[in-house]
Amino acid sequence: MWTENFSLLPYNTFGIQAHCKRFVDYQSVDELRESLKQIHHSFPIDPILCVGEGSNLLFTKDFEGTVIHSSMTDYEILPYNDQHALIKAEAGLNWDKFVAICLENKLYGLENLSYIPGTVGASAVQNIGAYGVEAEQYIYRVYAIEIATGELRTFSHNELNYGYRQSIFKQAWKGQFIITHVAYKLSLQFNPQIQYGSLSKVIAESGMSEPLTAQSLRELITKIRRTKLPEPTDLGSAGSFFMNPVVTSEKFQSLQQAYPNVPHYIVADGIKVPAGWLIEQCGWKGHRQGAAGVYDKQALVLVNHGGATGADIVALSEAICRSVDEKFGIQIKPEVNFI
Ligand code: EPU
Repeated sequence: MWTENFSLLPYNTFGIQAHCKRFVDYQSVDELRESLKQIHHSFPIDPILCVGEGSNLLFTKDFEGTVIHSSMTDYEILPYNDQHALIKAEAGLNWDKFVAICLENKLYGLENLSYIPGTVGASAVQNIGAYGVEAEQYIYRVYAIEIATGELRTFSHNELNYGYRQSIFKQAWKGQFIITHVAYKLSLQFNPQIQYGSLSKVIAESGMSEPLTAQSLRELITKIRRTKLPEPTDLGSAGSFFMNPVVTSEKFQSLQQAYPNVPHYIVADGIKVPAGWLIEQCGWKGHRQGAAGVYDKQALVLVNHGGATGADIVALSEAICRSVDEKFGIQIKPEVNFI
């Protein structure tokens, strides 16, 4: 039913060597429930952590409890109306495979989220986003098992408090549910979303002669991501390590006076400034501190050059936050979940 003293190396893209007391890999919801029952009975006070591919986690120490992983990767397509359909996928399905499956089935909306590491289950926790699109725009329902009771719960989008890389599963309900399925409501028609600054620029510069299809957009996004972000198999990382901070317009004006070319986006609650830019201005891009480092092509990404511990990465991230605060008076916060 579970494996004891299990290495989490294959379950975190940072490539941190950490162990958990026990590891459960479930193939069905019934098996998950049965495992939870036994774990509650045998280890009532041990914590439980659910992981997908571990692409947004940083293990800062061994996990003194049970780690649960889904090996369920199936999906079904359900009719909705004449413009939309639902695709309900199991939590363990690799995210990029899921995006490919959507396109093969002529279901559109998620093209810009191509090549993001992780799983379908994690997408609903983290509200993954890229190139002007966030997963929550298309999330219709989330199905989860309540850890305390083993009950299956179904949540509609409005109950989940979605925000920038945020959901209720990272806040009030943290550690309370194991997501088993996510239903996405997708469009039957392709409407390219290419207004995001760097994307429209790349499309304009690429001089694409053919009309943009969902598949060509997906390929373009994949290509951009490959040039900017390290492949976890080559260099351990968790994608963007920090969230992009939102500052007031007064703060932004003083920043822009000093740095007229500061990149920025206007959002509902202020002006978003790329943390990668702030970090680069502080001289961290490509910097190495032992085995922990800042990626040389995108300063928002911290990397493990081999053998870094969670503590090494935390120390580097704290030094970066301090220096951004000292130089700009802006507090940046990790996007990655520290365990
Ligand atoms: N920039 C720099 N130096 C850097 C990195 C970025 O000056 O080292 C500047 C760029 O020149 C650009 C701006 O910052 O003007 C924005 O950069 P980019 O388009 O690469 O995006 P980002 O804001 O750094 C966010 C997401 C990424 C997502 C991209 C594209 C967050 C925390 N990150 O990064 O998401 O792929 O936009 O939409 O919002 C992830 O979450 O893991 C992730 C990779």
